[in-house]
Amino acid sequence: MSDAPEITPAAVDAAVEAALQAIAAAADSAALKEARAAHTAEGSALARLNAQMRDVEPARKAELGKLVGQARGRVTEALAAREEELGRAETAARLEAERVDVTAIAERGRIGARHPLTLLQEEIADIFVGMGWEIAEGPELEHEWFNFDALNFDQDHPARQMQDTFFVDPVDRHLVMRTHTSPVQVRSMLERELPIHVLCPGRVYRTDEYDATHLPVFSQFEGLVIDRGITMAHLKGTLDHAARVLFGPEAKTRFRANFFPFTEPSAELDLWHPTFKGGARWIEWGGCGMVNPNVLRAAGIDPEEYSGFAFGMGIERTLMFRSDVQDMRDMAEGDVRFSEQFGMVV
Ligand code: DAH
Repeated sequence: MSDAPEITPAAVDAAVEAALQAIAAAADSAALKEARAAHTAEGSALARLNAQMRDVEPARKAELGKLVGQARGRVTEALAAREEELGRAETAARLEAERVDVTAIAERGRIGARHPLTLLQEEIADIFVGMGWEIAEGPELEHEWFNFDALNFDQDHPARQMQDTFFVDPVDRHLVMRTHTSPVQVRSMLERELPIHVLCPGRVYRTDEYDATHLPVFSQFEGLVIDRGITMAHLKGTLDHAARVLFGPEAKTRFRANFFPFTEPSAELDLWHPTFKGGARWIEWGGCGMVNPNVLRAAGIDPEEYSGFAFGMGIERTLMFRSDVQDMRDMAEGDVRFSEQFGMVV
């Protein structure tokens, strides 16, 4: 075999030298793998020298075998040493890259919290549910008949204009964004068995300015009781109870004569707020009265047999003077700092 290298110390040294250089130059495991293939695998100089051992005359076998064997041993050793070195460096680099600062403050997922208005609405609902009432709801896009007519607003009653209404196109469908929760009274009377005890919280719409004390979209809660023998004393007792639960044991209510087409008599409802920020005082809270017989009749209830009371209050307004909120717009804008003031972890 003419192209086979002859086993000489020089040839062996050259092969070893080349291998050691490649091993030392390997900068990472991949490069080392290449060096191992190039300098030890079949076809490499060392492998070919080793293969030559077959043809060596017996008298020189021991001498040359030792030469080649030691050469292979050195390369194998160098490979192992470099492999360990690179492995250690690579592990160190990976540990550094994946380093975790156990003293760092964990990033908290912000899952959100319920809005103070929602919470107040539920707190109010709970007061009435606690007295055995039911929660009733109605549509926000409402028929004019429920929003006005059935509630005894005359066709050209000034109150119909008093409530600045969003009429919905086409006008001949007579749909409005409900201006109050009172239409749910009528729906409840039509849908439910007597007696009725319902609380109707929900969103209402008016073409009001958007300012510190008005929102074009806000919420109210409406109460309605219909039974035999219901009097204004029941109304007063109910409202005083709700006032005490929401505003403390010294809270109470008072009535001032007023007019609403759907109640007769009607009253403006004032609340004695014992812990008001600027000192205890009376605050206008809402409207109330005895359900007008015309409303009972519109809902198919005989006013000779049944009577009832109703009341309606704004929830944003209630939150304002209960929690000393200066600007109603803060309730609408959705800035989490507003909710956080109520101790919420957002
Ligand atoms: N619906 C009235 C409004 O939005 C509030 C109101 C007044 C509701 C008197 C009532 C009531 O149930 O009896 O201004």
